[in-house]
Amino acid sequence: MSNNVVVIGMQWGDEGKGCIVDYLAKQTDAVVRFQGGHNAGHTIVIDGDKTVLHLIPSGILQNSVKCLIGSGVVISPPALLSEIDQLEGKNISVKDNLWISSNCPLVLSSHILLDKARENLLGKSLIGTTGRGIGPAYEDKVARRAIRVNDLFNKSNLEDKLLSVIDYHNFLLRDYYKSEVVDFSLELESCLNFFDRIKLNIKDISKELKDLQLRSSSILFEGAQGAMLDIDFGTYPFVTSSNTTAGGASTGSGVGPSYFSYMLGITKAYATRVGSGPFPTELNDDTGKHLAKVGSEFGATTGRARRCGWLDAVLLKRAIFANSITGICLTKLDVLDDLDEIKICTGYEYDRKVINNPPLSIEEFNRCEPFYESVQGWKCKTAGIKNYDLLPDLAKAYIKRIEEITGTNVDMISTGPGRDEIIIRKNPFS
Ligand code: GDP
Ligand code: IMO
Ligand code: MG
Repeated sequence: MSNNVVVIGMQWGDEGKGCIVDYLAKQTDAVVRFQGGHNAGHTIVIDGDKTVLHLIPSGILQNSVKCLIGSGVVISPPALLSEIDQLEGKNISVKDNLWISSNCPLVLSSHILLDKARENLLGKSLIGTTGRGIGPAYEDKVARRAIRVNDLFNKSNLEDKLLSVIDYHNFLLRDYYKSEVVDFSLELESCLNFFDRIKLNIKDISKELKDLQLRSSSILFEGAQGAMLDIDFGTYPFVTSSNTTAGGASTGSGVGPSYFSYMLGITKAYATRVGSGPFPTELNDDTGKHLAKVGSEFGATTGRARRCGWLDAVLLKRAIFANSITGICLTKLDVLDDLDEIKICTGYEYDRKVINNPPLSIEEFNRCEPFYESVQGWKCKTAGIKNYDLLPDLAKAYIKRIEEITGTNVDMISTGPGRDEIIIRKNPFS
């Protein structure tokens, strides 16, 4: 029997995955990132000291946990090197614990320029990307012209491939987008410098995961972004460019679906979104401002203000299905502590009918009005509570209502950003 857990964001990202992965990592032998890139920002707070991880799995702060980057991740060489430097500056040993898949595509400087140029051209209908070149890097992967970590082993082949890719990118940048271009030799130097520093960390991640399984290890798979940002399942085109849903854990790390024993779906006790796109339960009022302030809702990667709103149980139920979620982890419960009334969206009014399914298009999203159920606020402090029995009855009633509506157990709850401000009702690894 496998004992491997997948952690998935069930909303639009920033659900608090980093905290939860760090917490669970102490029970594991390895933590694996399987998609996304340095668009992710996963925050871990230990004794008041904040660390934000972008590419390195959130197991790195637990001693002797191996951290694996699977082939579904796109890697920016300077971003990964600077993350390694920052962690090693805090005396965290990265070099000995990080394994990188030889199949990972690289994010080049030209991808970043292309990302920005495309957003500029979209004007008001921009996606609101993180500007990290993620979309263009995945485009090149699918178009089969990506430079992959593997290519770094052979300098002359790398030069040829990189020259042709940069030539193509510069043509687009200069002639179509009227943007600045990149310098081939600087890009080559960046790739070679990267290779020089990480060559001993390059592995066949699928094989490593097979070997770990043979040793009966426990592995945690750390999703980035959230289900509603999935390229296939999410609110397209306002999505990221990878499969953020649970299937991505399999394809992005080279293991089959039966490798996993438990899917932990993370959701905030309310909802947030950064960037453009549909958000039916968004609050453009004082309650929205209150959630943003109490929840410190600013992006961990770009610092942008996050849009805030009520929990959307319609989308949550769909995300539970799309990810085969075993149990829910409800985060940031403490952010609701001061509210008189809390709402849960249980349907949408569309053409004067109430529907219980997610809208099928952006146009439908724009026309639907959320339909809410109200729950009484508990109006006392849950912040820092680590024992379920100590939660106020009204907070327990809110949690129970979420379980009833979604038909899924809330197995974990977090009540603060600190390392162990977490309530475990059922341990995903037990
Ligand atoms: P991730 O991308 O899913 O890892 O989430 P982020 O790190 O981008 O954003 C979550 C933010 O909420 C971080 O600043 C965390 O420190 C903070 N956080 C996580 N869990 C809790 C919680 O239970 N309560 C409060 N108040 N903050 C939390
Ligand atoms: P974590 O892992 C929240 C959003 C961007 C934008 C869209 C596309 O910290 O939860 P991209 O740069 O990926 O092409 O942007 O996706 N986005 C995130 N939002 N959390 C994230 O990661 C995100 N990564 C991308 O804001 O709307
Ligand atoms: Mg984040």
